[in-house]
Amino acid sequence: MSAAVKTQTTIQIAPATPVIGAEVTGLDLRQPLKPETVAEIRQALNDWKVLVFRDQEISDEDQLRFGRYLGPLTPAHPIAEGLPDHPEIWERHASDYVERNRVDLNIPTARGPRDSNGWHIDITFVANPSSYSILRGVEIPPYGGDTLFTNLQAAYENLSPQIKALIDGLQYVNGASAYDMQGPPRRDGRKAGPFVSVHPLVRVHPMTGKKSLFISPGGRSGHIVGMKQRESEAILDLVRGESIRPEYGFRVHWAPGTLVIWDNQATAHAGPIDYAHFSAKRVVRRITVAGELPQGPDGFRSHPLEGELFDVIG
Ligand SMILES: [Fe+2]
Repeated sequence: MSAAVKTQTTIQIAPATPVIGAEVTGLDLRQPLKPETVAEIRQALNDWKVLVFRDQEISDEDQLRFGRYLGPLTPAHPIAEGLPDHPEIWERHASDYVERNRVDLNIPTARGPRDSNGWHIDITFVANPSSYSILRGVEIPPYGGDTLFTNLQAAYENLSPQIKALIDGLQYVNGASAYDMQGPPRRDGRKAGPFVSVHPLVRVHPMTGKKSLFISPGGRSGHIVGMKQRESEAILDLVRGESIRPEYGFRVHWAPGTLVIWDNQATAHAGPIDYAHFSAKRVVRRITVAGELPQGPDGFRSHPLEGELFDVIG
């Protein structure tokens, strides 16, 4: 059972599960925040990884101001374009997901049909993925379109010491299919791929020093540096499966005015995963805070094999 925890200023943090997710109340995101309030939000993010703010009828400018409290913002996406007047904002429609997952099983293709379960860490195809993602509900259906989150620190922590010792020093290439991800020329002149990066399989959180698994759980590509194919597949399959055990999870049901921040350095997410089954309008707007090069327990830093780093906007 969750209990509201009174904090030093005016905000309350109500955890949703023992390991991930909390609702934050007592804030009006149309207003600038005091430094001590920002510090509390940062602490809550380190503690709960995903924060949900309800009934925030805010503008694009309010969302951008809120994001900048956590660090410099990036363009909307390395490949997709942002809004013409706000290049930091990525607007997504439910139909985007329906189109992306549409397959015709009767048409032969060079690769099999895409069959991802949707679980991912945002933009790990670049060497410096975003640190935080901030998603705002603009148009929300009465049901459907939930977002699922999992705590990758808890997933790492509960592995046996033997498996931790095995994976702590591993790196993987993400991933063969990323070579395909080259988009049309961008408005801002950045190159839209291809992107391929080398990452540590275990990541040390830059603020807390805690270790987490660090690979998109729903991916099927990627290989561990130095390992034979079957060895690599077996270990990645284990890591991906452990990442999304139900006990590490938290599910957000959206309502108009809901805003969610997640720590992309300690979680993975999936969603919406249910739009193949019904049609309803759902529009969300996302911004992302720039991230550093992920670091492994042995000091290894991610680096690109193909493509440029994802810089801040400006
Ligand atoms: Fe995402």
